[in-house]
Amino acid sequence: MPYPYVLLSAAVSLDGFLDDTGPERLLLSGPADFDRVDEVRASVDAILVGAGTIRTDNPRLLVNSPARRAARTAAGRPEFPLKVTVSGTGDLDPGAQFWHTGGDKIVYTTPAGADRLRAAGIADTAEVVPLPGDWDWRTVLADLHDARGVRRLMVEGGGQVHTQLLQQGLADELQLALAPLFVGAPDAPRLFGPGRYQPGRLRLVETRPVGDVVLMRYEPTAPGTGAVPSAADHRWLALACELAARCPPSSSAFSVGAVVVAADGTELARGHSREGGDPVVHAEEAALAKLDPADPRLPGATVYSSLEPCARRASRPRPCARLILDAGVRRVVTAWREPDTFVAGADGAGVLTAAGADVVVLPEHAGAAQAPNRHLLPRPGRDAHAPGSSEV
Ligand SMILES: NC(=O)c1ccc[n+]([C@@H]2O[C@H](COP(=O)([O-])OP(=O)(O)OC[C@H]3O[C@@H](n4cnc5c(N)ncnc54)[C@H](OP(=O)(O)O)[C@@H]3O)[C@@H](O)[C@H]2O)c1
Repeated sequence: MPYPYVLLSAAVSLDGFLDDTGPERLLLSGPADFDRVDEVRASVDAILVGAGTIRTDNPRLLVNSPARRAARTAAGRPEFPLKVTVSGTGDLDPGAQFWHTGGDKIVYTTPAGADRLRAAGIADTAEVVPLPGDWDWRTVLADLHDARGVRRLMVEGGGQVHTQLLQQGLADELQLALAPLFVGAPDAPRLFGPGRYQPGRLRLVETRPVGDVVLMRYEPTAPGTGAVPSAADHRWLALACELAARCPPSSSAFSVGAVVVAADGTELARGHSREGGDPVVHAEEAALAKLDPADPRLPGATVYSSLEPCARRASRPRPCARLILDAGVRRVVTAWREPDTFVAGADGAGVLTAAGADVVVLPEHAGAAQAPNRHLLPRPGRDAHAPGSSEV
């Protein structure tokens, strides 16, 4: 199920705090960084904060620059991004600025929270959405994507919300503004709380001074677990699709890209079809061939392949689904099930799952995976490639 691109944004002290314990909000950023944040706000479809931030900071969460608002409306977008909050209790002040400034607002809550919000009159200024059953961030993100058209979501805290989204593998990007001051109060809110985070290192994608703070942008890298995709799964699969586009063209075989990634987010190997002058090598085969079969990271690794690994092939004895299983890998993420172009009823996913592997299909990437293979696919209503006509 597609989710918005989730960008976590926060300013943090040198000792890792989001705020102090005083009654006023601690200003960690300076004017230049507030302007940068305004620019990011202007670029997104929605801004989310937790109820704790509304209670403590009473934020307005607006795009302050008239020029940026004008650019949004000129592009056919609402003047302000949708404002989103989450509250289990529904214990929110109907007089908070959140409800009375900017454009549309929505609050995701529990059934009991919804009753409380309605009783407080908040349903007059915001859409109140009770979530059925246990709280699930994926339900919130799917609703924002599917029902509200949100494609980019900026999350502006606080610590509880950031911690949950990062720990659940739902953050695509982390933007931290490191402020040159200390808080030093043990009871002050921390940016990230205790719990289970992705193993290994995030990828640093940018550092930049902004006034006297330093902006640091990171991307989580760890694959999801089992059938549950993480934000990093999308990034790795997008890379596999880029590799597919680099394959030498062929009229008798698919162009496919593959990446093997360890559980801690380390890229182990990558490959693509017909790599290195081998006219019949497949992407997964090329990538796995670069690894020591005894590499202890393989059993916990994920193979990303732009096309479902093959179940049968004429050119080599072992198809890619078997190569993956023989390497010990038990998780595969792909964009596209193999069509009948060369092999009728190929079911690499079935071979993998029958052996206990998890296969995750992310159809959002099917367009990119198919792009270098358009000439091999039947044109609707025009023709059909005869199965088995050629296959390498
Ligand atoms: N420096 C910065 O960039 C920055 C940015 C934002 C905030 N802050 C600071 O962060 C502090 C607030 O952070 P915080 O961690 O206390 O609060 P928070 O993350 O803003 O909000 C936590 C609240 O959100 C609701 N919530 C979160 N997860 C939920 C879930 N899974 N299910 C249902 N409801 C959920 C709950 O509301 P209910 O209690 O209503 O159930 C929870 O108490 C403030 O001091 C603020 O100044 C700093």
